[in-house]
Amino acid sequence: MDVVEALQRQATACEDLGSPMYAEVLRLLVDDYEVGGVTVEVLAEYDGRSFGEAIGLRLLAAVHGLVLSGETPELAAFYPSVGGTWDAVLGWEAFKQTMQSRIGEIRSLLAQPPQTNEVGRAASLYGGLLHLVDAVPLPVRLFEIGASGGLNLRADHFRYVADGTTYGAPDSPVVFDEAWTGKVPAADLRIAERVGCDIAPVDPLTPNGALTLTSYVWPDMTDRLERLRGALLVAQQVPADIRPEDAVSFVNGMELSEGHVTVLWHSIMWQYLRRTDRTAIEERLAGLGKQATESNPLAHVRLEPHRVLTHGHNEDGWEYRIDLQTWPGGELRRLGTATPHGQDLVWVS
Ligand SMILES: C[S@@+](CC[C@H](N)C(=O)[O-])C[C@H]1O[C@@H](n2cnc3c(N)ncnc32)[C@H](O)[C@@H]1O
Repeated sequence: MDVVEALQRQATACEDLGSPMYAEVLRLLVDDYEVGGVTVEVLAEYDGRSFGEAIGLRLLAAVHGLVLSGETPELAAFYPSVGGTWDAVLGWEAFKQTMQSRIGEIRSLLAQPPQTNEVGRAASLYGGLLHLVDAVPLPVRLFEIGASGGLNLRADHFRYVADGTTYGAPDSPVVFDEAWTGKVPAADLRIAERVGCDIAPVDPLTPNGALTLTSYVWPDMTDRLERLRGALLVAQQVPADIRPEDAVSFVNGMELSEGHVTVLWHSIMWQYLRRTDRTAIEERLAGLGKQATESNPLAHVRLEPHRVLTHGHNEDGWEYRIDLQTWPGGELRRLGTATPHGQDLVWVS
């Protein structure tokens, strides 16, 4: 895909997902690219890459990182994430000047794939676990692949409010008002172990890791930023073991444990795995599933996109589903749907 098409598509996605600022910046980048401005110097070598490489998001995150680090006060004045107000004329001028003056640094940052740890997806995990422990009332051992900074492994330490009922930790700095629609059982969730893996984990306890994770949140999406900043605080109190490891080897190392329900969890990472790796993980789960008993069960909870036909037309769309599979037995339940960042969560069962 050419750079212009990739940026245009990303602009539409940002608009649809609630970031008018980034939609505007991306369209201004397109205009600048088409007239041979500084954007060409920054992005030309990425012409022909797939949309999945998210070149627009890489550039936006590189610049946001500079803003968050306090190194570009003239641009920070236009970033809501640091108290500024976006302005399409003056903000864009400052954005272009930053690209010009920090071009070497920005280009080297572009090599880094996007590294989002979206706290909004925690509600799907948490609700999925409540459904699980309602049926299987045992302490949970939580294993996450593609965990990024591991923030969502602390999902039970966030507060969720739905239909006047509060779930999770009432005093948490991470708050989900109107967390979902539909019913979630008020089950007694106890998490005994939190372990994650990622091929490129980010340590949320270091200033640099926290800045990296924040730089991938879109600056005008204040709810997402507040949740991320709250989750960074929670991470300092609630330990989780995040290993620099590939998903396949991590799942191969998983074992069941008597008296616990062992859970594999993941969100928006399945698409990054090769087909052979997905099959290897499914086979390992099936193998563990055969060993599972009532007192030694296994579960798989995930929020991942599925291709669907939209509105009866012969056109592909994506549905972000929360699925729960449990062993012994291997029963698969569709629990709900959400949007890519975890909003508009609806429980169907
Ligand atoms: C879009 S992010 C989602 C992160 C997190 N699950 C969330 O929902 O916020 C995808 C993550 O998968 C990781 N990843 C990609 N391929 C992987 C693999 N083969 N094994 C482990 N992690 C992988 C990436 O490094 C990245 O952190």
